[in-house]
Amino acid sequence: MRMSHLLVLALAATSAASAASLPGLPAGPLGQAVQHGHDMIMNPGADPEMKVYVGNALSCANCHTEAGNNDRPGNFRSTASRYPSYSRREDAVITLEDRIANCFMRSMNGMRPGTDSQVVVDMAAYIGWLDRGQPIMAPAPPATPDPYTAMIHAAGRADVVAGAGLYKAECASCHGATGAGVAGSFPPLWGPDSYNAGAGLANVAKLARWVKGNMPLGHAHLDERQAFEVALFVDTQARPDFVLSQHLPAGARPQDYNARVRSETDTVESNLRKLGLSLKALR
Ligand code: HEC
Ligand code: HEC
Repeated sequence: MRMSHLLVLALAATSAASAASLPGLPAGPLGQAVQHGHDMIMNPGADPEMKVYVGNALSCANCHTEAGNNDRPGNFRSTASRYPSYSRREDAVITLEDRIANCFMRSMNGMRPGTDSQVVVDMAAYIGWLDRGQPIMAPAPPATPDPYTAMIHAAGRADVVAGAGLYKAECASCHGATGAGVAGSFPPLWGPDSYNAGAGLANVAKLARWVKGNMPLGHAHLDERQAFEVALFVDTQARPDFVLSQHLPAGARPQDYNARVRSETDTVESNLRKLGLSLKALR
């Protein structure tokens, strides 16, 4: 194991240990809820209440690094203050609680918890606490120009080959040659234990943006072109399909799921097709 990996593991261990107690929490049950929400975001496997809703080997904090309390892509600063908001995916105005529950179905490849469950309420308490004192229903910041749309438009097999080379050089030492990661240390990037095809990161542009700001862990240094190539490579690998009905609890009534879109199926292939790309032509 390289020195940098030991450092990363030591950092991970430190942050897990300091999960013991967040500074400046409100007293009593509210503070306990905030802490519990934070701890579940860091380590869902350790929480019996949350575990039942998780369908893969990821934690929320694998993507929302440091439980979202930083400036990197995927952070939870100014998240709570932007809800309720309209979501095109659900074609509905959704709450923070809805948004949390939806990440369980997609990024965690699991079952959607109720928005009034302790799991979701405590996570919302933590995410809300990060924004304490901020105004609510804050307008979303203006969209910044996206360099990835044009790159995706012109993507071809050469970009996937370049991405595979970058993956080998920059990522495989932690996430493994087959993307399966290392249980307990490095999360899987594709395959049965990673995020499904309905997740945010299954979108090449979102993955590129996230990778550019977060990876390689502790040393994010890829340029936009490289982030795009490695993201295209990762999102052409196999991962679970997303069939919405399979992630809603059996017997759920329409009013238990806040969305007008009631049917959705996503696969690696259909995600690429939506971008005007063909999996066959890329691989
Ligand atoms: C595989 C990576 C991944 C995992 C795991 C994951 N998320 Fe997310 N999450 C994302 C991405 C990417 C977005 C932004 C998606 C978009 O822009 O459509 C997001 C968005 C969100 C948002 C909305 C953020 C905002 O500012 O509007 C919340 C809240 C959230 N996730 C909570 C969670 C919780 C809670 C968990 C664990 C139960 C979780 N996520 C697990 C990748 C992940
Ligand atoms: C030094 C080890 C290391 C390297 C190198 C590294 N990662 Fe990661 N990666 C991690 C760790 C650890 C996490 C979880 C972060 C956390 O929980 O705070 C992670 C999380 C991720 C995630 C979100 C979780 C998941 O499994 O989907 C993605 C995507 C990812 N890395 C992609 C990459 C890519 C692409 C590269 C190469 C450009 C890369 N990583 C290089 C250690 C590494």
